[in-house]
Parts: sequence; C-alpha cells; structure tokens
Amino acid sequence: PVIAFVTGGYSGEAQISYKSAITIQANIDTDKFEYYTIDIRKDGWFCLHQGAELPVDRANFTVPLDGQTIRFDAVLIGIHGTPGEDGKLQGYFDMLGIPYTSCDATASAITFNKRYTVAVAGMSGIHVAKSFHYFKGDAIDMAQLAAALQFPVFVKPANGGSSIGMSKVPDAAGLPAAIDKAFAEDDQVLVEEFIAGREFTIGVARLHGEIVALPMTEVISENYFFDFEAKYQGKSKEITPAEVEAWKAEKIRAAARKIYSIFNCNGVVRIDFIFNEAMGEPYMLEINTVPGQSAASIVPQQVKAMGWSLRDFYSALIEDALH
Ligand code: DAL
Ligand code: MG
Repeated sequence: PVIAFVTGGYSGEAQISYKSAITIQANIDTDKFEYYTIDIRKDGWFCLHQGAELPVDRANFTVPLDGQTIRFDAVLIGIHGTPGEDGKLQGYFDMLGIPYTSCDATASAITFNKRYTVAVAGMSGIHVAKSFHYFKGDAIDMAQLAAALQFPVFVKPANGGSSIGMSKVPDAAGLPAAIDKAFAEDDQVLVEEFIAGREFTIGVARLHGEIVALPMTEVISENYFFDFEAKYQGKSKEITPAEVEAWKAEKIRAAARKIYSIFNCNGVVRIDFIFNEAMGEPYMLEINTVPGQSAASIVPQQVKAMGWSLRDFYSALIEDALH
C-alpha cells in the first residue's frame, strides 16, 4: 500500500510535528509500506521527494510525479494542532474517501476543544475539574469569577496543545493577564480549577481492532506546571511505567478506556489525568488525539514499555486504517 505521512500544520505546534516526524519516519516499515511525506504548511502543501518539494493537488490529494500520479491508500496523520488534530483534515479525507490513522472528524473536533471535551466527559461520569468558559469579547466580571474559584487555577486556550498560551495562576490578581495571554492564541478560553494530585498520562490505541491501554506514565514537572519548557526542554521527569498502586492504576486505565469509547476514538490517543487522593479518583484533564512522537514524547516510551517496537506499533495503526 501507498501511504501519505502528513506533517507540519498551521499552528505553533508545527515545530513539534516536525520533531514527531523524525521518530515516525525512522520507524515506518518500508518493507510493508511505500510512503511519501507530505508537509502541510501555510504557504502550501508539498510532497517531499528526493530533496524537491512537489506541490500536492488538493482537489484529490494526489501528487504528480514524472508524468504519473501518486495516489494514497491511507494517511498517517502526524500533525499536532490545526488542521491535523481538530478534524479539518479528517473531514477532507472523508470527503475524498481516503482512510487515515486518527480519530474521525467529529471526535477530533470535539476533543480538540477542551471545553467540549470536559462537558461530554463530565456528563458521561468521568471526573473533571470545575471550569468557566469565555468567548473573545465576553464581558468577564473578574471579581465574580475569582469568588467562584478555588486558586490556583489554570487558564487555557480552549483549542490548542503543548501548553502554548496556558498559565497556572496562583491568585485573583493574575487572572486578567493570563486570560489575555490565552485569548492571544484562541477565541475561546477556559478557566479551570487546579486538581491536587499526581499527574498521569496514558496512551490508548485501537490495535488489531481492540482497545488497548498502554503502560501509563507519571509526569513530575520541575516547573510550576507541565508547561512547554517542561514538555520539550527536559524540565520534567517522566516515569514509565508509573510506580503506582494497582487499584489506582486500574481506575486510571478503566477511565482511559471509557473515555476512548465515549468519544468514539480511533488510532492512538493520549489522555492526561490527575489522581486526586481525597476523592480516590482520576480526574481527566484532556485528550490528545495526535499525541507527540518526538524523542522526548511519552507515547513512544509507553510503546517500548509494552514490549512493542515503534515499527510494529505504527504498522498496526496503518493496518487498522487500511481495514
Ligand atoms: N500536543 C502534544 C504534541 C502532545 O499531546 O503530545
Ligand atoms: Mg494537549
């Protein structure tokens, strides 16, 4: 089969997509698949081929090459952020009838928005933090908001990733600046109470038709929270598999599998949780439907901890898309 591996993207997370690409390209099984890398950028969509950038025909997602036309049997999606993680490319490939490795357009669009994610998960019995949501231009009564919250809080762009535009705010005085910073990234903002506890993150994948929870990771950030620097510049400790009591691990795994089902996910996703001791329950923070695959990323560590090679893991994802 001929596979298009799509990388890049239009958001600040494009730089992370290129880091993920290094791992993915090194581990696509070229005995099984013929693959081409497609770089989707604001200035165009290009097939990277022998040092050249061949323009992609966007009407049908084909690439003209040497008088021939390359057509793809499936797409391996490696774009973090828009348009690869928020349902846009998924909708486009659905229209063209080309299968892909990620969640479908609806699941991608809902889970990319942190507000809609907590709403749907919360209504399905998953524990989530208390939060308030605003659109750009809303008149926000800061005093009322501060009174309704327990500090510290997180202020996040509703649509985004890699903690870009996100702040952890210790008290009411910090709210306005944090909200402005989040609005610089998105026109929807979420102000969310901090949940005390240890942070865990767990990959879940559909492999050969079965929903599998990967070994989970505990994230211990040296920074005030697991921010961009902690994620990508080594300012955190990640322990895979996490050292955690069996009953807690089972609650996290069960919640992760349930979330995967509730949102009708597909491919590999990574779900972030805080395990709150007082409640004895995991709280879902968010779902990443195109989780990072860079050398510093968590899912590749979990795949290895499961005893799989990345090569077999990516092959299984592609094979699931093809079937
Ligand atoms: N958004 C980043 C890439 C992640 O979830 O791994
Ligand atoms: Mg994220």
